[in-house]
Amino acid sequence: MELEGKTIIVTGASSGIGAAAASLFAEEGANVILGARRSAELESLAERIKGSGGNATWLAGDVRDQNYSEALVELALKEYGELDGAFNNAGIVGDMSPVPEMQIDNWHDVLGINLTAAFFAAKAQIPVFRKQGHGSIVFTSSFVGFSNGGMSGMGAYAASKAGLIGLAQSLATEHASEGIRVNALLPGGTVTPAGGEGNPDVLAYIADLHPMKRMASAAEIAQAALFLLSDRSSFMTGSPMIVDGGMSVRLA
Ligand SMILES: NC(=O)c1ccc[n+]([C@@H]2O[C@H](COP(=O)([O-])OP(=O)(O)OC[C@H]3O[C@@H](n4cnc5c(N)ncnc54)[C@H](O)[C@@H]3O)[C@@H](O)[C@H]2O)c1
Repeated sequence: MELEGKTIIVTGASSGIGAAAASLFAEEGANVILGARRSAELESLAERIKGSGGNATWLAGDVRDQNYSEALVELALKEYGELDGAFNNAGIVGDMSPVPEMQIDNWHDVLGINLTAAFFAAKAQIPVFRKQGHGSIVFTSSFVGFSNGGMSGMGAYAASKAGLIGLAQSLATEHASEGIRVNALLPGGTVTPAGGEGNPDVLAYIADLHPMKRMASAAEIAQAALFLLSDRSSFMTGSPMIVDGGMSVRLA
């Protein structure tokens, strides 16, 4: 049990990587607080976790709303008395137009959901971690945000994911001496609704870009998130942890 008795917030828990991570964390003994926009999906995942003997509660909302980040933290404290970690994972790809054609609304949506929401999450979570003297934050970035990343049509997405690495590293430096660790997880192509699930041509195209010639499963990425949130990674902070089947090496 890697997370026995720990309370962990997971955003983007209604599908894909977040849902797989929430299930895994609960199996590993965590009390999970599920966040995303869709109530029905969160409720049914919480019921499944509880049906398997785990502890889960949920609150639907939009991560662009600062009050929502605060409400998730309050819920964790109310239900379980403390907060030990957060997998701030909600994200969107957005419109994949080249920048000259990209609408400003898309830029704001992608930056708002992928990056500004992480700022709100950290603002809500870090004061609790400070008081307790411990806490671990993981942001879901992407290989696209790494120094060898950047892909055509992904200007807003790549900017947001690179921004998350900078945010994680700044937070890591600010709070390392307070027992708070902050890392970024950089998945490669992963089979999820956002990753092309249900569209065999897209999946085959993305798989072929990877040296491993396949995409990750959400469960594989969840294992990396588990490692970063658990005490096994106790000397890691400010790390961009790449889990991408060799994709960023290929792009180097
Ligand atoms: N799938 C991939 O290939 C891949 C690769 C690298 C990084 N990522 C990142 O992984 C994370 C999870 O994506 P996924 O692939 O599991 O996709 P997904 O579409 O299955 O899940 C996205 C989750 O984010 C939530 N979400 C989106 N906008 C939200 C908002 N405004 N407020 C609250 N919740 C919101 C959705 O409800 C959903 O639960 C994202 O940050 C994504 O950028 C995915």
